[in-house]
Amino acid sequence: MTCIRLKDKTFELFIREEEILQSITTMAARIKADMEGIQPLFISILKGAYMFTGELMRAYDGDCEITFGRFSSYQGTSSQGVIKELVPVLEDVTGRTVILIEDIVDTGLTMKYVIEQLKRKGAADVRIATLLFKPDSLVCDLKPDYIGISIPSVFIVGHGLDYDEAGRCYKDIYKLKEE
Ligand code: XMP
Ligand code: MG
Repeated sequence: MTCIRLKDKTFELFIREEEILQSITTMAARIKADMEGIQPLFISILKGAYMFTGELMRAYDGDCEITFGRFSSYQGTSSQGVIKELVPVLEDVTGRTVILIEDIVDTGLTMKYVIEQLKRKGAADVRIATLLFKPDSLVCDLKPDYIGISIPSVFIVGHGLDYDEAGRCYKDIYKLKEE
């Protein structure tokens, strides 16, 4: 499929599943090498990272713990800048190495908020593993530690990402078509 229609918008094929999975394999190997002798706590950021999380964990194939949190900053096709905690992380992070699994870093405000919160709760080291990164949209000093694919500042859906809850379950990634 080269185009999909979601609600009032059309999206065109942008990144194929093969490229996504290849980037995840590479990322998992890097994380595993860095985590030698450490049992990290992965925190998957719902809902967008659900598909990426399963794939990253399968590729990681090592000793770790996994939990989930849910935050929101997006409505429609733009970031709101006000972060809401929808599902809190309940695990004790004191002294832990935490790796946040995120679908996409856009303005960076969500990850900055979550990192500060985890550091306040006593995490020893907090890292970000993001499938996608929009470097031109960043508005704060944040540097994701592990990046799958960097993209220009376009709105995308698929592979976990949604347009108002539509489009999450496509395996490829699509970008908004200018009309
Ligand atoms: P910030 O701006 O805080 O945003 O880095 C991160 C969150 O915003 C969502 N996001 C997107 N969702 N297509 C989407 O479906 C996009 O192009 C996009 N850009 C950002 C996403 O939920 C991410 O966790
Ligand atoms: Mg979203």
